[in-house]
Amino acid sequence: MDLKQYESRTSRPIQAKVPDFQRHERLKHVLFSQQFNTGLLNHLARVATNIRALAKSRDGHIWLSQLLPHKRAMLYFTQASTRTFLSFTAACQILGITCNEIRDPKVSSEYKGENPLDSVRMFSSYFDLIIMRSVIANFAECCAYLMNDLERSDQRSVPIISGGAGTDQHPTQALLDMYTILRTFEFTSPQDSSLRTRFAELQSRYPSLTKGPADKTYCFCGDIGRGRTVRSLSVLLSLYENVTMIFVAPDHDKLRLSGDLKQFLISRKVKVIETEDLREVIGEADCLYMTRIQHEHDKPEDKTFFDELDMSRYTLTPEMVGRMRDYTPIMHPFPRNEEIPFEIDKDPRAMYFRQARNGMWIRAALIAYLFDMDGRIMSKHAEMFSDYQSYNEGVLA
Ligand code: NCD
Repeated sequence: MDLKQYESRTSRPIQAKVPDFQRHERLKHVLFSQQFNTGLLNHLARVATNIRALAKSRDGHIWLSQLLPHKRAMLYFTQASTRTFLSFTAACQILGITCNEIRDPKVSSEYKGENPLDSVRMFSSYFDLIIMRSVIANFAECCAYLMNDLERSDQRSVPIISGGAGTDQHPTQALLDMYTILRTFEFTSPQDSSLRTRFAELQSRYPSLTKGPADKTYCFCGDIGRGRTVRSLSVLLSLYENVTMIFVAPDHDKLRLSGDLKQFLISRKVKVIETEDLREVIGEADCLYMTRIQHEHDKPEDKTFFDELDMSRYTLTPEMVGRMRDYTPIMHPFPRNEEIPFEIDKDPRAMYFRQARNGMWIRAALIAYLFDMDGRIMSKHAEMFSDYQSYNEGVLA
């Protein structure tokens, strides 16, 4: 695959690339967390919440499915995926978009030696959106440049969404994580709150607790260096004021927080703390984000290191959960290994299954936004729920 032709563009700092993925003040392609600001995050969260409310009723569901029946999406996932692939498929279905997929390049023309860039250009002839995941970190980015070049020469060009790029970024996982955090720290919806109690009660126990993602300590545990979800989410969280991030990772070059991300976070005024044992910091977290050790990236020379690694430092136990704050959500992008035992699933703070479902709604919101349908969704929601008045909230409680 000849990606060298894009090197002068891929080697730029991310901030310089961001305008290339926008059009008319809106996102065109979705590749990096750095493309989002708090305004857009709040907007997408609102659209997602409107979609989930509309989708509950038969009428709302039918209305949503008639928004984009004239669009087709290609899911080109040549790296393993369950949740991202299925939630994107479900998101497309909610909006009436027809999906097609290639997951195994052996059954496509790549097997005959076709250049994947040619394959992607072919997809753009048949489909209106390409959602892709590849082991090659900048492949989706190069496909976005290919689409931009085609558009410039008045040829057919479609949006590219990254569903995970090598060990680099996973922007839509960060969106669903952020949507989960926004909902959790509203402390209103019993369904999405980590504790079914009122904010005032929590505040009497934790006087410095505020609503929203600002003024919080986020604890990330596990494979920090090779986990693209941590990378992308920490970039979004750095948009908020007074944020502390604790990174708990084994003491290994590849696994601990990378120098470039650390510098970036510090430049955004994040207070960064690094440690090697979750047990020491568990009580300080307002939000806990667990991850698995990604052994698929291990090198043979690291075998002794991993054989001797004390995993109890990166594994939750019921005793540790007992020492957590009452409202702290336990998040995980999944799949999990032993770092969260099944017995913790019944704790009201275990958020990971709701977090995954949030992925379907926020991905539907993102796709609706890319096709300029977000405004119509907001209006329809206002029309369908016009008799609901927020000033009634709590009056009869
Ligand atoms: C993650 C990924 O693929 O980066 N999974 C996901 O998308 N939900 C995390 C992982 O594989 O550990």
